[in-house]
Amino acid sequence: MCGIVGYIGDKSASSVLMEGLAKLEYRGYDSAGIALLESGKIEVERSVGKLINLREKLSDKKYSANVGIGHTRWATHGKPSFDNAHPHSSEGLTIVHNGIIENYIELKTMLKEKGFTFVSETDTEVVAHLIKSNFDGDLKSAVQKTVQHVIGSYGLAVLSEANPNEIIIARKDSPLVIGIGEGEMFAASDIPAVLSHTRKFIFMEDGDITVLRKDGYTITGIDGQPVDREVKLIDWNPVMAEKAGYSHFMQKEIYEQPRAIIDTIRGRYSLEDSRVNFADFEKIQSVVKDFSRVVIVACGTSWHAGLIAKFYIEKFAKIPVEVDIASEFRYRNLVIDEKTLFVAITQSGETADTLSALRIAKEHGAKVISVCNVVGSSISRESDSVIYTHAGPEIGVASTKAFTTQVISLFLFAIYLGQERGTMSSDEAGRYLGEVLKLPEVIEKVLEQDDNILKLAKQFKDASDFLYLGRNVNYPIALEGALKLKEISYIHAEGYPAGEMKHGPIALIDKDLPIFILCPKSSVYEKVASNVEEAKTRDGIIIAVVTEGDEGLKGICDHIIEIPDIIEELSVFPTVVVTQIFSYHVAHLLGLDVDQPRNLAKSVTVE
Ligand code: G6P
Repeated sequence: MCGIVGYIGDKSASSVLMEGLAKLEYRGYDSAGIALLESGKIEVERSVGKLINLREKLSDKKYSANVGIGHTRWATHGKPSFDNAHPHSSEGLTIVHNGIIENYIELKTMLKEKGFTFVSETDTEVVAHLIKSNFDGDLKSAVQKTVQHVIGSYGLAVLSEANPNEIIIARKDSPLVIGIGEGEMFAASDIPAVLSHTRKFIFMEDGDITVLRKDGYTITGIDGQPVDREVKLIDWNPVMAEKAGYSHFMQKEIYEQPRAIIDTIRGRYSLEDSRVNFADFEKIQSVVKDFSRVVIVACGTSWHAGLIAKFYIEKFAKIPVEVDIASEFRYRNLVIDEKTLFVAITQSGETADTLSALRIAKEHGAKVISVCNVVGSSISRESDSVIYTHAGPEIGVASTKAFTTQVISLFLFAIYLGQERGTMSSDEAGRYLGEVLKLPEVIEKVLEQDDNILKLAKQFKDASDFLYLGRNVNYPIALEGALKLKEISYIHAEGYPAGEMKHGPIALIDKDLPIFILCPKSSVYEKVASNVEEAKTRDGIIIAVVTEGDEGLKGICDHIIEIPDIIEELSVFPTVVVTQIFSYHVAHLLGLDVDQPRNLAKSVTVE
């Protein structure tokens, strides 16, 4: 997820772009850059790190350009570096891009054969050269031809010396809006970037290509035919706009999950041959059959993703999996060798305990894979291979979309291991991949239940304790649900395997204790249903999360939340989203700082 701004008008383009990028920094902050059309020539300024570095670089420069494009980056291909920072150029033109180009390797090979040279590791530079190779004086048709050959997602803005009176923008699966001013036009990946200049916006749709001129715009489809898009008047205040109208980043991130999952799986599976592929897996690929054991190490929410992955890997790849908390792992007498596959799960890639555990595993000869959301982070740099989760930056301290994208990455990884080791057939893999594709819609349906979940939050916000119960893959969700509630509402909550309730927590149950029971349709449904009975007999207040159409628990439970039907392995997605929304509302209703809960940090770089 990156931020894009474009401007054409009479104002100072560098000021408009820098002001816009500042509003988009939440979308990415590992490097930033702008390109200006200065007296007919493109001038590019870039810098690594936060926007402040670019601002300082520009402070002693006097640009007078009135046309330009800008970008703030969240790396997906190529580490955060000067060379990888946008804009990316091909003689006489330059572009900024948000998204992932899946067929960039194939396009790169083709362009190299045509004589183009590459200075970055990005997928974006491929698009710049491809536009150049399609350019015959008409920039818009060059962009149109280019996007017809690109597979993947993009929000694009293109500037060319040969066409100084226009900016071309294009969109597929990456947000892009047009801002309409008086004698000026704007482009942005999100409204806040240019809200101080205009309130009139067009939300571009997939396949739209727009020519922005000072005095107007033209939108066509990918086939070149004109399309009509409605102009909308936006009345958000600046704070609302930054969060895209949501009250908090956490809420926004919960709602981003269907899209984030699509970004995570993009380009990693093929339904034609039912296979999963990961980029940069050479070091693992050659030894994948030799592992006798998988050791997963993580902290906090990432550890919960690891607990779920154990089910996936043991089922699909038939390898024993151990899951450990990093701070515990590092001080044991470890039995690890070169037959161990070590998997570090970490959204930040900087957690000190996980990093130390990884180093110890490497010293013992293990091969190391990390599942990580931050390209170029310490843990990703020290791993043999990385599965990037592509969730985009997560601002809310309590992890939501980073977690679900970890889990889906690990699900794909388990299929990969199963196929490579010959324990999973193509048919089986194809069936599971088909189920994965249902997830965005399944999560959307859970999000539609927000109001019902809010009603529960209102009813239970003053409870002093909560119990969360689940079994099998939903046991880690019981832990995660309880953790989320603790983190942001400061209410004491415990997660337990439902079958373990009778060995202790049952003593806590009385008429004042709300109990969240995760009981979707599954191989352990009857077992969990018996646990519901046991809890109800002790007067506990039961809030059950069940598969829609399940009548079995309706008479027994105090409250029912229905989730769409999905296979057991993937039922963790709808169940966790229910618990995220519930925790969010409780914390919000209690008037707490949802995005920055007390005592917690997004990235814990101390032991
Ligand atoms: C902190 C965060 C948690 C996160 C944990 C592990 O405690 O607040 O949300 O789960 O660190 O972080 P990691 O970046 O390694 O996933």
